[in-house]
Amino acid sequence: MKNLITNAVLLTLPGSERPRCAGELGKVGLIRDGAVLMDGERIAAVGLKDLVMRHPDARKGRIFDAGGRVVMPGFADCHTHPVFGAPRLKDFELRARGKSYREIAAEGGGIVSSLAAVRGATEAELTRLLQEQAQRFLECGTTAIEAKSGYGLDKDSELKALRAIKHVAAGGRLDIVATFLGAHAVPPEYKGKPAAYVAMLIRDVLPAVAAERLAVYVDAFCEKGYFSPQESESFLAAGAAAGLRVKVHAEQLSRSGGAALAARLNAVSADHLDCADDGDLRLLKESGTIAVLVPGSNHFLGLTEYPPARRIIDSGVPVALATDFNPGTCPCWNMQEILSIAVSRMRMTPEETLAAATINGAHAMGLGQTHGSLETGKVADILVMDCRDYREIPYWFGANLVAAVFKRGKLLHHTVELQA
Ligand code: NIG
Ligand code: FE
Repeated sequence: MKNLITNAVLLTLPGSERPRCAGELGKVGLIRDGAVLMDGERIAAVGLKDLVMRHPDARKGRIFDAGGRVVMPGFADCHTHPVFGAPRLKDFELRARGKSYREIAAEGGGIVSSLAAVRGATEAELTRLLQEQAQRFLECGTTAIEAKSGYGLDKDSELKALRAIKHVAAGGRLDIVATFLGAHAVPPEYKGKPAAYVAMLIRDVLPAVAAERLAVYVDAFCEKGYFSPQESESFLAAGAAAGLRVKVHAEQLSRSGGAALAARLNAVSADHLDCADDGDLRLLKESGTIAVLVPGSNHFLGLTEYPPARRIIDSGVPVALATDFNPGTCPCWNMQEILSIAVSRMRMTPEETLAAATINGAHAMGLGQTHGSLETGKVADILVMDCRDYREIPYWFGANLVAAVFKRGKLLHHTVELQA
């Protein structure tokens, strides 16, 4: 099947072999009067319309006229926790009464309060719930996500969550890269015994995750009251030995040593980084680790401080943006909203947010060679946005500007008729 989009203001994000850092982050590869030709699942030609139209197949398929709208790669959301049973409305109300994330967790809310719903659900129920979330991501223009387990926290429930991810990924409407986040919180059975819990994960759960190939990444919440750097390291190193690549929830609520740990383990990404200092950033730069910033969680928690994006960009560490979609700190699947927050609260430029949410997000989940930019040969995950200037994407905050989503070359969703 061939699809051609013409009359596009293209954001191509070219030169995508490695994640963008420092000054490169703001280069979006703008082409006015552009076109993109899809052949099957891939991009066959992209660039100036006059050049693309010279392709022998340019007129052989369906033609969509973007009418001067922005056409860009699908968002690559590289940090989500989408396998949960129910929203945490009680936590939300407590926050309205002034309670902090730590206080809410200490009073029985937080991550552990999400366990019962996941433990009590069947694999089929979790799969159905995740399918619904996947559709919401897609409608907001996200075509690939990284999805973590971490609300089961026992062998059966973690495996069940990862299998649900596998089933939804197999449906093909959303590319999903799975992460085993066994060390997300200490479950009640192991209260006060994080090391014993980690030992159980390593002994009983990791081998099953690896044997069934249920995850590509392993992740830990390295934070006071959750897992120490030593506990995180033993879990993550065992994951690496089992063939998984490493991600770390690092320096979120306090400076806990997660960033240095990520660098030491050559992690693909260190995520959050609110409390990272310049020494941490030097280590991350040396290890080539991507800083995944999730300012939607700061927004939802009502925090006044945000991750130091400008300092991180200036240090030369590549930055990606993600939603952190989860029921506790960021029940938002719309990357466009995250871009707005990143501009207004972290002083990233619109161009930087767009690159951080596409090509750098793809790199942060190992998809940089195939996803995240509009280049010949890449997977045809393409958005038509209902605006003519790309700066409008973060500008109209709270909106969903998606006019059409092509997933692997197929029109899966549209809100606007694109005249042929
Ligand atoms: O990334 N920090 C740990 N995990 C999530 C929060 C999960 C939850 O509260 O359910 C986060 O913010
Ligand atoms: Fe997270």
